[in-house]
Amino acid sequence: MTRRKLVAGNWKMHGLRAQLGEIEAIAAAASRNTGVDVALCVPFTLIERAVAVAGELPIGAEDVHAEKSGAHTGCVSAEMVRETGATLTIVGHSERRADQHETSHDAWAKAAAAHEAGLRVILCVGETEAERDAGRAERVVQAQIEKSVPEGAAASWFTLAYEPRWAIGTGRTPTPDEIESMHSIARAKLSRMVGEEAAGIGILYGGSVTGKNAESILSLEDVDGALVGGASLTAEKFVPIIEAAA
Ligand code: G3P
Repeated sequence: MTRRKLVAGNWKMHGLRAQLGEIEAIAAAASRNTGVDVALCVPFTLIERAVAVAGELPIGAEDVHAEKSGAHTGCVSAEMVRETGATLTIVGHSERRADQHETSHDAWAKAAAAHEAGLRVILCVGETEAERDAGRAERVVQAQIEKSVPEGAAASWFTLAYEPRWAIGTGRTPTPDEIESMHSIARAKLSRMVGEEAAGIGILYGGSVTGKNAESILSLEDVDGALVGGASLTAEKFVPIIEAAA
């Protein structure tokens, strides 16, 4: 089944108003490359201004709280994100699983809350280097999918991102065979959970994607796009990845 490619940026904790020009340039590149979907997830503080300059480029958040409201200091609900004009959010990113001790159940609850608020969801899974070295990568990722993917996940609102933690920000990536194998395993796991709908769900690869390796990674079976960190911060670095996917 052919699925449109999605190239999404994750700015993490980078993103001051001085960088809005980069968003404008990325949006212009996205409008020139209509064969691929592009999105950009930025810090909460930048979302509304990003939406104002992004034109048709979807702007997203990097996380949402699972509750609709309440005594959760410093947190932001999915509905609050939706009100900013954002149309998607990342949930379950490995940096939050590591730094904030978020679990797959937390990711499941956040994904369900984001969907209920009308946001598209990019849900992240991925193994640590120790888990890969111990030969447990496939088992770990399948368990994360099992526990994180909400019931009724559908291509219309849900995208999975496979991001091996040891490849994030390191310049290292799995081999093409390792990427294809994990994406195939993830697709099969999704099929067991949501049936035929899984065939339409995009599975992105994330972890040190750059303009140099994007074409080879994006050409792999079951790789439906990329979730890009460092190389999404500037148009100069991000546009070659968008063009490689187009
Ligand atoms: O969410 C994408 C991110 O984790 C990948 O980061 O800098 O390795 O592209 P990076």
